[in-house]
Amino acid sequence: MAWIWNSVLPLLAIFMICVCSTAAGNSTVFRGNSSVLRKNNTTHPAECADLSTVTWSEFQQSAGLQVLYLLLTRSNMDCATVFTKESFSDPLQRSSFNSSLPTKIIIHGYRALGSKPSWVKALAQGLLRSVDANVLVVDWVYRASFAYTWVVENYKEVAVQISIFINELVSHGSKLESLHFIGVSLGAHVAGFVGTLFEGKVGRITGLDPAGPMFKRKDRYDRLDPTDALFVEAIHTDSDYFGISIPVGHVDFFLNGGMDQTGCARSQFASMYGYVICDHMRAVHVYLSALNASCPLIGFPCSSYENFLSGQCVDCQRTFRGTCPQIGLLENSGITISPVPHEEKVFLLTSSSAPFCAHHILLELEVRPLEKTAEVEVTLGTLGHPDIQHSLRLHTKEMVYRRVMASRVPLCEIATIKIKNTGALFYRQGDIHIVSVCLSELPKTSPKNALCVMNIYLGRRYPWSHDFVQLCETN
Ligand SMILES: *[C@@H]1O[C@H](CO)[C@@H](O)[C@H](O)[C@H]1NC(C)=O
Ligand SMILES: *[C@@H]1O[C@H](CO)[C@@H](O)[C@H](O)[C@H]1NC(C)=O
Ligand SMILES: *[C@@H]1O[C@H](CO)[C@@H](O)[C@H](O)[C@H]1NC(C)=O
Ligand SMILES: *[C@@H]1O[C@H](CO)[C@@H](O)[C@H](O)[C@H]1NC(C)=O
Ligand SMILES: *[C@@H]1O[C@H](CO)[C@@H](O)[C@H](O)[C@H]1NC(C)=O
Ligand SMILES: *[C@@H]1O[C@H](CO)[C@@H](O)[C@H](O)[C@H]1NC(C)=O
Repeated sequence: MAWIWNSVLPLLAIFMICVCSTAAGNSTVFRGNSSVLRKNNTTHPAECADLSTVTWSEFQQSAGLQVLYLLLTRSNMDCATVFTKESFSDPLQRSSFNSSLPTKIIIHGYRALGSKPSWVKALAQGLLRSVDANVLVVDWVYRASFAYTWVVENYKEVAVQISIFINELVSHGSKLESLHFIGVSLGAHVAGFVGTLFEGKVGRITGLDPAGPMFKRKDRYDRLDPTDALFVEAIHTDSDYFGISIPVGHVDFFLNGGMDQTGCARSQFASMYGYVICDHMRAVHVYLSALNASCPLIGFPCSSYENFLSGQCVDCQRTFRGTCPQIGLLENSGITISPVPHEEKVFLLTSSSAPFCAHHILLELEVRPLEKTAEVEVTLGTLGHPDIQHSLRLHTKEMVYRRVMASRVPLCEIATIKIKNTGALFYRQGDIHIVSVCLSELPKTSPKNALCVMNIYLGRRYPWSHDFVQLCETN
């Protein structure tokens, strides 16, 4: 693990510089002074509350732990108000928090990842568009900034503070099972520890790329795990770096294998965001898209990403009796079986930009035995979208090849298939006899839903192609 720390630490140092320089500027931030509350115009307070920022000197001077809460509801989606336990007894404030509604609690992570997380407002608003709820944003910047190791030491203390606040909500009529925590990165473990303090009786915890460094080896008690809430889910997008690689929920969505995301720069010369936190923050952006519900993001249970890619996990029959888990707000992620399984890894591919959903197309190729290894390139053409391309290395002893590919369009919109023999440049090779090439879409319900072409002789110089004539059913 040492090499990871060697590479992570300099990056953290750079983040700290970012925090200091961006936090130093503005005075319009809210700094724990709840005077905004006392303004007599509560529906349109003159100032909207926002997350605080903290400078290095303020950080050093701050004695106690300051955990603050911002409240957004459907009646103030654009303008957060500061929420404290006094808000319950303040007649001017009472209107906005409604204990009979569910409560969504957003917990940010290590704030060195950007002094004021830009996604908080979008997440709160996305939640409110989907459900009539109280959205509370936990602001724990005084314990989430600067050295990551201090932050990790403090996260339980923060969880204890939050649990005191939750008790206050409960005593004013909120139900534990109506609480849904959404924790980003380290915030996921804070949520997990709040759940532990309530003996797993809170409703739901969603971990958006739960933090990995210093947590992976921790005891279940010290990190997010399925016993922390009635339902725990996690979305993994950077498990080789800032995220955790082990399953921590009832269901764990590993996007594109959970490590490297499409559309995130791989080059060290890319921008800081592009190179360092794009993968980690992808979980948040995918969740935001899922809240918009423009298209389903469903995962397939499988023992590993490699097995998923090689077409060994094509439906959700065995593990979930047919209904695949879906990212978003569906109860138990849409899982209908009971009890809900624990630590079930599910895999999905995404596209590189919002809304991120992809159709999973399974390519199955059967060839007659070859004398020499070969390589073919398969290209699926779609109307109006980039082609989907995949190279397959063919071995002499294997005859069946399967591969799952991401497509922006459903199977019925795939217009052409092209296969090219790209290997064998330097030696003679006879034709490749393709017994069949089939395309189908996951979840695979019946073999009948496959598009197949049989008996193709693929010469070295002549690519083969075929047009599909098909129509999408409109229903
Ligand atoms: C803070 O930002 C506001 C508007 O964004 C600006 O008017 C004000 O001058 C800024 N203050 C400082 C100290 O930079
Ligand atoms: C809070 O703000 C009010 C009015 O702006 C000011 O009088 C008071 O001193 C402030 N309190 C703190 C703790 O900063
Ligand atoms: C409430 O608002 C009115 C007008 O908007 C103002 O005249 C009055 O002083 C305010 N009261 C308090 C207590 O701030
Ligand atoms: C409350 O604030 C809104 C927006 O700032 C303003 O239009 C409205 O007149 C204010 N009401 C009172 C009573 O001050
Ligand atoms: C609180 O929510 C419940 C359930 O939606 C609703 O019936 C009630 O009117 C709300 N109360 C207030 C004060 O808005
Ligand atoms: C979600 O929908 C809203 C409103 O339709 C839009 O403003 C927002 O950009 C969308 N967000 C994403 C991530 O697709």
